[in-house]
Amino acid sequence: MNVLAIYPGSFDPITNGHIDIVKRALRVFDKIIILVAVNPGKKYLFSVEERVQMIKDSLKEYPQVSVDSTSGLTVHYAQKVGANAMIRGLRAATDFEYEFQMNNANVFIDKQIESIFFMAKHEFMFISSSTIKEMVAGGIDVSKLVPAPVYTMLKEHQ
Ligand code: PNS
Repeated sequence: MNVLAIYPGSFDPITNGHIDIVKRALRVFDKIIILVAVNPGKKYLFSVEERVQMIKDSLKEYPQVSVDSTSGLTVHYAQKVGANAMIRGLRAATDFEYEFQMNNANVFIDKQIESIFFMAKHEFMFISSSTIKEMVAGGIDVSKLVPAPVYTMLKEHQ
């Protein structure tokens, strides 16, 4: 059986924490579509095309992983591609409330689509896309925290 999951997020940009979750999730799922969500009300550092390209470049040695984007609901995307699982990462208890609420909304829309949560490894617990951007703005070297293609793009955006 080919088990497909989607991994939705803003990925502005993708970090080593996200990459670790993708690699671990590949032990559970045969195929993963990383879904870059486009929220017109949200301000991003990178365009959707840049975010998609950085993810493709960062995971090019994983043919089981593909990348797409949507400006709609993630549940609708999952229904369209026939995925019945949605991957999300959890770092600390502070993530829980937001994830719990979003999961309830997603279950209300379609209870057949199950969210599966992967706990961040302790070395990635402090990494978020926002922290990375703040560190870069403050002149901190983030080369150990993001994939090489993201590091290059962050330097270009400085
Ligand atoms: O990486 P993020 O910013 O925590 O990801 C949040 C994301 C993109 C998964 C969430 O905002 C989302 O699912 N957006 C698409 C709209 C949607 O489906 N909302 C949930 C049900 S109303």
